[in-house]
Amino acid sequence: MLTEKTVQAILDLQKHYPVKRSALIPALHLAQAEVGYLPLDIQKQVAGLFEIDVNEVNGVVTFYDMFFDKPVGKHLIHVCKNVSCMLRGSDALLGKLCQKLQVHSDGTSADGEFTVIASECLGACDRAPMMLVDEKVVGPVEEGMLEQILVEAKKGPGHPSPVENAEASHG
Ligand code: FES
Repeated sequence: MLTEKTVQAILDLQKHYPVKRSALIPALHLAQAEVGYLPLDIQKQVAGLFEIDVNEVNGVVTFYDMFFDKPVGKHLIHVCKNVSCMLRGSDALLGKLCQKLQVHSDGTSADGEFTVIASECLGACDRAPMMLVDEKVVGPVEEGMLEQILVEAKKGPGHPSPVENAEASHG
């Protein structure tokens, strides 16, 4: 279950919108930042806070790449597989990365460090083939760069926590 602090943050968030349903996506970010992902019991709790059906929450969670209904690794590597990146070899790159980490696409490495996510266009087509490594856009990426990309990613704090970001911006 979410802590009282996160529940309160979600209730506060709702007050910033004329229709509280509009705060659902940022609220899910807060919930995910606390738990790490959004299992069904958390989705139910969030639905309760918004007085909406859990299926509505589940629809949002499963629609967006940025929400996870299963645990993910400390570092997220989104590999764009859309047209510009695909034409410049993203399929092979994704395959190589998965092979290196011994995961399937959308899988998490055994050590829990990395989750690899095949993504739609990430808005940096000029850097094709590109990846989003936690918050950092990397590209154009060549196979020979993968090892260094993983080493650098491990040095970072991991994917961003919207709770910390929200606290910093209000701080
Ligand atoms: S197609 Fe890959 S970033 Fe746009």
